[in-house]
Amino acid sequence: MADKIIEVRDIKKYFRVDKGKLDKARAKYLHAVDHVSFSIERGEIFGVIGESGSGKSTIGRCILRLLEIDSGEILYNGTNISELSAKQMKQYRRNMQMIFQNPLASFNPKKTIGASFSEIGKVYKIPKAEIDKKIHELVAYINLTDDVLTRLPKELSGGQLQRLAIARALLVQPEFIVADEPVSALDVSVQAQILNLMINLKKDKGQTILFISHDLTVVRHVCDKVAVVYLGVIVEMGSTEDVYKNVMHPYTQALISAKPKEHPLEEKERILLEGEVPNAINVKEGCRFANRCPRFKEGLCSERTPKLKHVGGGHYVACHYPIGQKNI
Ligand SMILES: Nc1ncnc2c1ncn2[C@@H]1O[C@H](COP(=O)(O)OP(=O)(O)O)[C@@H](O)[C@H]1O
Ligand SMILES: [Mg+2]
Repeated sequence: MADKIIEVRDIKKYFRVDKGKLDKARAKYLHAVDHVSFSIERGEIFGVIGESGSGKSTIGRCILRLLEIDSGEILYNGTNISELSAKQMKQYRRNMQMIFQNPLASFNPKKTIGASFSEIGKVYKIPKAEIDKKIHELVAYINLTDDVLTRLPKELSGGQLQRLAIARALLVQPEFIVADEPVSALDVSVQAQILNLMINLKKDKGQTILFISHDLTVVRHVCDKVAVVYLGVIVEMGSTEDVYKNVMHPYTQALISAKPKEHPLEEKERILLEGEVPNAINVKEGCRFANRCPRFKEGLCSERTPKLKHVGGGHYVACHYPIGQKNI
């Protein structure tokens, strides 16, 4: 049986966006994550991909309980952690670490890298000799030398810092890591180092990673499985290879045919889609992608929300008129 480390069951996270000005009946809620379910097996890199604002970071933060879900369940090694108190949650925190997009912002600018690393040892009460040994090993693992430990964050490059942010997350040997757009802020020339580091973590240490990205090329390179999200819902999910070869959702297809970035630091991929990007405020019944979808048909698409259905071989799609037929 598959060894599921994370199981996300029908989670919902809405943000109230009228600042409490309207009465309850007219309150405006942004459906950032809406009935999302998926599971991550031990030792795999699971990708979450979608445009900016689609709810990717919210999903990652909810799993780590940096945000509280409105409904649903999050299971960690079979335990429902969504109901645990802060105190009960403590024993799980160490096993679930996060890597952020901007490595400079994730280090204290006034502390040397070494001091930031040692602090982790203190927080988790790891003996000094043990943590020093671990730091030394990890710095070598990410292809840097111990002299970086005496430096301040601003004295290092983005690529070096991001490798150090990963090393810092690894200090406590977490079972599970959420990497939220770990290469999006980096120059293309150093992105590959970080991506290869992620792949090696999986190969060498069997590391389980939730990998968030808006870049399909990156996801294809790194992830075993992928969930494509659009305005808070999963529209397609499956093994990365299968989703690419037998793409079924028109949104996924649009992402795949998106123009490459014109400049390495350009934030968004350009997507060949018509129609305005709607927002997910007080969404109604019907497909959320309807107004931009090239396969849109009046009736079903505008009236009924497509459910995420299994079409075989671990491939799921939420579309009334999916592309092609799956060859199983
Ligand atoms: N704390 C918040 N309050 C209100 N809206 C939020 C908050 N955090 C995120 N959102 C909104 O939720 C949606 C999903 O955000 P996010 O998960 O950050 O998307 P992504 O990571 O895919 O870019 C966006 O529309 C965003 O503006
Ligand atoms: Mg994000």
